[in-house]
Amino acid sequence: MSSQKEAYLRLKKAVAHHDKLYYKQATPEIDDQAYDQLKADLEELLKKYPELEDAQTSLFLVGDDRVEGFQSFKHRLPMLSLDNTYNKSDFFTFAERLESQFTDEDFQLTIEPKIDGVAVSITYENGIMTRALTRGNGTEGDDITQNVKLIKDLPDTIPCDSAFIEIRGEIYMRHDEFEHINAVRKETGQDTFKNPRNLAAGTIKLLDFEEAKKRSLNIVTYGLGAFEPANLFSSQISIQGKLKDWGFPVLEKFWKAKNAKEAWDSIEALDEIRNHFSYPTDGAVIKVNAFSQQKRLGSTAKAPRYAIAYKFEAEKAETRLNDIQLQIGRTGAITPVAILEAVQLAGTTVSRATLHNEDEISRKDIRIGDTVVVQKAGEIIPQVLSVNLDKRPCDSQAFCFADHLKSLNIEAKRDSDGASWRITAKDDPIRRQRALMHYASRPAMDIENLGTAVIEQLIQIFEIKDPSNLYTLSQNDFLKLDKFKEKSAGNLYRSIQSSKSQELWRLIHGVGIPNVGKQAAKDLESQFLSMENLQSASYSELIQIGGIGATMAESIRTWFDDPDNQSMLNRLEAEGLNMDAQKPDSGEEQTLANKTFVITGKFESMTRDEASELIERAGGKVSSSISAKTDYLIAGESAGSKLDKAQKLGVTIISDQELTQMIGKEL
Ligand code: IVH
Repeated sequence: MSSQKEAYLRLKKAVAHHDKLYYKQATPEIDDQAYDQLKADLEELLKKYPELEDAQTSLFLVGDDRVEGFQSFKHRLPMLSLDNTYNKSDFFTFAERLESQFTDEDFQLTIEPKIDGVAVSITYENGIMTRALTRGNGTEGDDITQNVKLIKDLPDTIPCDSAFIEIRGEIYMRHDEFEHINAVRKETGQDTFKNPRNLAAGTIKLLDFEEAKKRSLNIVTYGLGAFEPANLFSSQISIQGKLKDWGFPVLEKFWKAKNAKEAWDSIEALDEIRNHFSYPTDGAVIKVNAFSQQKRLGSTAKAPRYAIAYKFEAEKAETRLNDIQLQIGRTGAITPVAILEAVQLAGTTVSRATLHNEDEISRKDIRIGDTVVVQKAGEIIPQVLSVNLDKRPCDSQAFCFADHLKSLNIEAKRDSDGASWRITAKDDPIRRQRALMHYASRPAMDIENLGTAVIEQLIQIFEIKDPSNLYTLSQNDFLKLDKFKEKSAGNLYRSIQSSKSQELWRLIHGVGIPNVGKQAAKDLESQFLSMENLQSASYSELIQIGGIGATMAESIRTWFDDPDNQSMLNRLEAEGLNMDAQKPDSGEEQTLANKTFVITGKFESMTRDEASELIERAGGKVSSSISAKTDYLIAGESAGSKLDKAQKLGVTIISDQELTQMIGKEL
């Protein structure tokens, strides 16, 4: 293969990977600038070697947020994206080109905040909201009307008798709401979201309406798609006023400019004040004001020629690094954290930053007492970018991870295959505490009333070493805990005891095998069906399972080979914990044994998780993709491509009611 072809395939794969993370899963791994660079590299390569392009490439040049479970509809006017610039000279090239095209006529630019949210297009017909769509692939978007209707400050009706009008805007989540949701998730042991944009994107695509109702989203509108009659508006500025009159939340501020220089001054003014807006702003959007002029300039397939986005640099600040603290994870992994002199950054006070691992600290030569540059790039947790060497104290010493561990009396070893250190002493109290917190957490054994403060006391008073010890405690023992009375002691006792019958995957996840998350635990349960089978599975058997890679297979083997873990499992079994794939005491009839189901779309009577649970309790298997082996597709409202595929393959299609009839009972 030629080296260009290799580069092309590598870039195409990387762009597709990051597209999926950003648009479909709302969990990006890289920042916008790094992503834009990848796309620019790919486009440049294709410009030089057009023969490399295959039919699929153009698909990758436009992001696509459409996902299974939503019905999609066409936009009347496509939702294009904007070309991005990151530097002043590129901005001037754009603006001066426009200036030169309009020498003989009035010409105005608008400068608006670029909101870092999720694009939406809302159609009103004769003044009534009829549908809300995501951007999708630009031509066709997912129908998110149900969730959009939950947005409180969005009007259901507007005083506009236009036959139809598409209102364009961005959905976002306020900082305080984001922090509140994360705080609750943290308390209940669930993973937290990285930033408000990801959470807003995830929320708008929630199929679980009850969960969507619990989260509050906001919207800001800035423009229009198609509208009728066509002469309703003549400029960008006139739209802003009208949107406000109709009761939409609009941009708190925008600027007008007559030339490139004025526009640049406005961009700088916007950068000064953007942290005071209620929505996150990551740049400026500069548009030609008059629609007639916009029309003359036209658009490419991807973006208009009459507008551009100027992305602000991530905010940076200098501050003193007071200390490096170590955070201990559930498997004893140690993550260094920078403790900073508090500093204002992107509208929040920052006093901690992540340092990732030992190699990161030595690569940047970060030392306690240094003045460091911290940056927030869309993420909530800032990073330490670099050290200001001019301000380094003359007596400073290089940070030695191993010495630091020694001074804190922590016995640890660096992983042979990675950059992280891990506590070796299994009975280290912090490690024990983290492991127990993980065991009790909602995504694992889900033991109510067993929070951090209780675990700390159990370790202190009863010298609890591992989860198996929890089951030996009596109701009276819990009376020794701070503020515990008969009732609270009884509740805690019962929730610990009833966790014995939790599903096997919860136990597999809960015991804390490094690298094994919730999904992997579910895959392991459905493949091996019992803890005993899993325990004796060889590396080569493990690696054959979809979703289990080499690292995970190795860590599963290592974990089960450890005699201490084996004896803990024996103790858990002796205490009566469920070690088999089916819940032992569910007493359900196995009416769906050997039947494979796929679930798609939305149901009124139950959520998809509830449907899965019903099927699994009745002995059936739930799979995520349709194949010739699928027995039934349970299709709800807005079923997408799975429905088509099932029809093609002749798979029996049933409703949620038919499912409950098959099992012979309601939820
Ligand atoms: S105008 C033809 N104005 O940024 C494109 N877009 O990167 C018209 N965005 O798809 C878009 N703030 O989702 C416009 N003030 C603003 C915006 C804005 C945020 C989003 C929008 C667009 C994306 C492009």
